[in-house]
Amino acid sequence: MNMDSFAYKDSVLTWRGAEIRPLAAKFGTPLYVYSESALVERCQALGSAFGNRRAGIYYSVKACSNIHILRILAGLGCGADIVSGGELFRCRKADISPEKIVFSGVGKTEAEIRYAITEGILFLSVESEAELHEISRIATITGKTARISVRVNPDVNPGTHPYISTGLKENKFGISHKEVVRIYKLAQSLPGIEPTGLGFHIGSQITDLSAFADAGKIAVRLVSEIEAAGIKLKHLDVGGGLGIRYANEEAPDPATYVRTLIQSVGLDHLELMFDPGRSIAGNAGILVSKILYVKEGEKTFFIGDAGMNDLIRPSLYDAYHHVFSDPLRPGTRSGDLVGPVCESGDFFAKDRELPAFESGDLAVLASAGAYGMSMASNYNSRPRAAEVLIARDGTARLIRRRETFEDLLQPELDV
Ligand SMILES: Cc1ncc(COP(=O)(O)O)c(C=O)c1O
Repeated sequence: MNMDSFAYKDSVLTWRGAEIRPLAAKFGTPLYVYSESALVERCQALGSAFGNRRAGIYYSVKACSNIHILRILAGLGCGADIVSGGELFRCRKADISPEKIVFSGVGKTEAEIRYAITEGILFLSVESEAELHEISRIATITGKTARISVRVNPDVNPGTHPYISTGLKENKFGISHKEVVRIYKLAQSLPGIEPTGLGFHIGSQITDLSAFADAGKIAVRLVSEIEAAGIKLKHLDVGGGLGIRYANEEAPDPATYVRTLIQSVGLDHLELMFDPGRSIAGNAGILVSKILYVKEGEKTFFIGDAGMNDLIRPSLYDAYHHVFSDPLRPGTRSGDLVGPVCESGDFFAKDRELPAFESGDLAVLASAGAYGMSMASNYNSRPRAAEVLIARDGTARLIRRRETFEDLLQPELDV
């Protein structure tokens, strides 16, 4: 979290200069609010460190996939890193050109592979030998060539939460670095396949840059072995994973991260591809909840109208989100900030010193822009929250309306 982006003016909370309460009054709660200028700043911070290096940002759509946000990022020149047919559909609707889309994920279906090949995306990232054969089969049927990149599992420890580490040999992702050269030779021999890149992604919320550098070195060795086998590559995809500041962690700044990778990798003949998700969207969004009740007893529960279905990160990974009150409540009280969902796991803060909320206050969760709304569900038949964007000129507009009860039932009534 960037502490400086929150401030109180006469006890009224502002985020990046905007008052939150009028947005909650106009659009209701729970409400996600995003800042266009924050998105732009993060993209520019990464991009400005590229210097003369041929490099690009392929935003990881899963972090926050609202089409209006994709359009903003596309307007800044970003491509997209996707993991499903649904994300491909979103990206195409957002006018991201196919040559700027790459498709990761361990379990692409036949329909998804066919869709990606037909659209002519930049490449599919291959995560198993079986998948490579399937891509070759589908490409041959469609009469097209599928460009592929192999995702290497470098067996590097990113030092992050086990659920978001992806580059260890016990993780399901990628192909072992020991197998990669053999897989490239196989790819070269299969019909309908053109190997064009190599990639890795070792995990998320990584704050230790040495893990990226270690993975980069393994990739460099593999590129030289693959090229020695006569296969010419065009891209090296170094994944995403840069951590952000949620609490007090020291998150590396984007420019240092980019420079670390440029320096540890070299390989100037390859385009260096970055697929950041969290580091672009995480601190560009907040979740606004309204306190319904303060339940006193052996323990104090501040019960808000946002629940784990709106933001699951605390329940799923024990993730920390800083909490602000509106209005400012001097002093703190120890307790839990929870939601209305019927699960004891439905909490945003547990046994924490929190603002001394009163009912009717707003509880504003910082750093909720990534893996917030994109992981939201309808659990407990709760319509998903609305999303609002504060544009660069300071105006706020709805970018996703609040779901209705009818939205919940429609697929069941359509049968
Ligand atoms: C291949 C790939 N690239 C990029 C990302 C984005 O990671 P982050 O949001 O940590 O930047 C992911 C996330 O899991 C991923 O699997």
